[in-house]
Amino acid sequence: MSAFKAVDYKDDVLILLDQRKLPVEKNYVEIRTLEEVVHAIKDMIVRGAPAIGATAAFGMLIGANALGKDLSFDTLQEVKVTLDASRPTAVNLMWATARIMDAVSKARPEDYRAVVNAEAWAIYNEDAASCKQMAVYGNTLVNEGDTILTHCNTGALATVAYGTALGVIREAHFTGKNIKVFADETRPRLQGARLTAWELMEEGIPSTLIPDSVAATLIRDGKIDKIFVGADRIAGNGDTANKIGTFMLSVLAKAYHVPFFIVAPTTTIDFDMADGSYIEIESRDATEVTHIDGIMVAPEGMAVYNPAFDVTPNENITGIVTEKGILYPPYVEAIMRIRDIK
Ligand code: MRU
Repeated sequence: MSAFKAVDYKDDVLILLDQRKLPVEKNYVEIRTLEEVVHAIKDMIVRGAPAIGATAAFGMLIGANALGKDLSFDTLQEVKVTLDASRPTAVNLMWATARIMDAVSKARPEDYRAVVNAEAWAIYNEDAASCKQMAVYGNTLVNEGDTILTHCNTGALATVAYGTALGVIREAHFTGKNIKVFADETRPRLQGARLTAWELMEEGIPSTLIPDSVAATLIRDGKIDKIFVGADRIAGNGDTANKIGTFMLSVLAKAYHVPFFIVAPTTTIDFDMADGSYIEIESRDATEVTHIDGIMVAPEGMAVYNPAFDVTPNENITGIVTEKGILYPPYVEAIMRIRDIK
């Protein structure tokens, strides 16, 4: 278990490990207002789909507390709308706020605050349990001595605990499978270099950091046995939005017959979305590409295209590991089957 919590809530204060500064500085930020929650998600103090979902859940609680006597279904709905607008792609955010509104819609007005509190904690605790379960299922796909490639950060920093794809890697390591890991640095925000590398080293998992562009050579040369990545939104047909660069990896995996697995809780599945073409892809600031640590590395005025995510088509995905089991093609049927399993 990791020695840190990316998201915590104590005495009406949301506590986030500031992921913008890791691994150089380990600072916790205390969040007391709705505006601060929105800023923390937008500015990526907290990031990773399940961690964003848990943060949004506590954002609803912070919003409910601030409303005091004015707390009603409609005012809480406004809090939801404000939170939902903070980042568009990770569905865990809207899923968490919708789940809370659904519970509130069934409660008596005098119970609203208590219901928001209970749901926020349930979302938080269920994410940790889901991650542990996915790790156990995902580990059944890992063979002794496998070399695994991963992209972005999907660890304890991106979830409430343990992680999704990195949770599987943790589980494989701690069950003695003698795995090795290659971690993509994940330009432009460097979640792989700054966050995944840090988590891997903290756990003592044998691993090597690579520039994203090295992955193709490793895959072609037969150096990668399996690829495990996370997800920000999975459409009803299995098309999966994840960190930019994931699609490229999936194409390479298919070309060279390397199994390519998504690891994500069912809270990341957008059951009502027909396919990945409907997923809104967040476009981020040009300075993420033109600057590194505040230093300009591209000519002034250069045009930049900086989508934060891409969509991997379902035909490139070998399997999707969820807390309810591992899904295989055809995904429309597999996803429908797990929809109502409690
Ligand atoms: O922009 P980020 O850092 O929030 O993107 C994170 C990812 O793309 C992760 O792979 C995804 O959220 C899964 S995290 C368990």
